[in-house]
Amino acid sequence: MKVAVLGAYQTKFGELWDKSLADLIFEAGNEAIKDSGVDKKDIQSGFLGNKLGPQTTGQNHLGALMAEVLDIKVPVVRVEAACASGGVAMAQAVQSIKSGQYELVLVVGAEKMTDVGGEQIAEALMGAASESERQAGLTFPGLYALIACEYFAKFGASQKDLARVAIKNHYHASLNPKAQFPFCITEKQAQTSSDVAWPLRLLDCSGVTDGAAAVVLASERVAGKFKKNKVFISASCQASDTLSLDKRPDITTLCSTKTAAKFAFSQAGIERKDVDFVEAHDCFTIAEIIALEDLGFYKKGQGYLAYKNNELRLGGKLAVNLSGGLKACGHPVGATGVKQIVEVYNQLSGRAGVRQSKGAKVALTHNVGGTGGTVVVHILNK
Ligand code: COA
Repeated sequence: MKVAVLGAYQTKFGELWDKSLADLIFEAGNEAIKDSGVDKKDIQSGFLGNKLGPQTTGQNHLGALMAEVLDIKVPVVRVEAACASGGVAMAQAVQSIKSGQYELVLVVGAEKMTDVGGEQIAEALMGAASESERQAGLTFPGLYALIACEYFAKFGASQKDLARVAIKNHYHASLNPKAQFPFCITEKQAQTSSDVAWPLRLLDCSGVTDGAAAVVLASERVAGKFKKNKVFISASCQASDTLSLDKRPDITTLCSTKTAAKFAFSQAGIERKDVDFVEAHDCFTIAEIIALEDLGFYKKGQGYLAYKNNELRLGGKLAVNLSGGLKACGHPVGATGVKQIVEVYNQLSGRAGVRQSKGAKVALTHNVGGTGGTVVVHILNK
């Protein structure tokens, strides 16, 4: 059975000091419902992707919070899977429709990260890593820096190659009014920004972000009653890998990405060459390079070479992260997987404004939890 996206909305991403987690859920949920044209009372269930709510706001019982703020008296489940919370919420919602349990479902991803200090947020984020990684004093920039070091040693890439990822994604974000960092950067700025965890610099990192995104999903039968733009989800696949990097034979590959992609392409019945654009999980620049290889678009060790021409930019052969990605649109962790679907819906509906990918029909989203303990891949088509 096909599942359709009927409407979508993203709040502005950034430091939203005047908005609480509840405000973000309220805005994204209500605007997505309005966009879909459905009557709120017809929504049968809700899923909320959120990772840090209890740590950053003190609020547990987030399913009930979402039901209250949106005034929907239906079952709502909070889904937590680190930075893949939004992607897994999507996958669970899709499954609930495919199983026949529901026909009209609201998915919200929301996160409030900036009301606590830098150290507190780094510690809260590390809840997504393993105990040994926490005890070693690692942070997420540190973990991805280890991956980058190994990638450099194996394949000969350098900080200059990482900078190209950031430059592309900041360019796309400069075309996105909802982005946290909507400005272009130069190679010099990227390479002279401050060190965070060598070889990663400030401009290799996603930010600390507040924001929310939401979509309304419907069964094919219900979607058929609406005359508006529809985008269909042709694959929804989740996979796991070890929580710890040190339990993997090769840290330059996320096996979970490879597995989720393999099943997704088979479920959608398409090949890599059929994909027009990708929203990939670029929490750090190195993560995007590895993602493009593990998703099967480039051979292992060759992904970084693709940035030397314009093929991954708007208008290129395979546009990657037209929203600006996590790097420059922002990464409110539990919202990211839903925001990726919002971007695809806007692109495939022809309403992405100046960053519109012309003629695109098929897109893929890739959402990672931690260093790949969880990965979700969705494929969508017009
Ligand atoms: N990209 C671009 N600019 C950024 C940025 C980023 N990721 N993060 C901060 N900035 C800018 C700020 O806007 C600010 O600019 P201004 O001085 O013009 O106002 C400046 O850099 C300093 O910002 P600040 O918030 O003080 O930075 P920070 O040093 O406290 O934090 C990081 C920077 C990279 C450490 C922080 O963003 C971080 O921890 N990112 C990773 C988050 C993470 O691990 N997520 C989970 C991934 S799995």
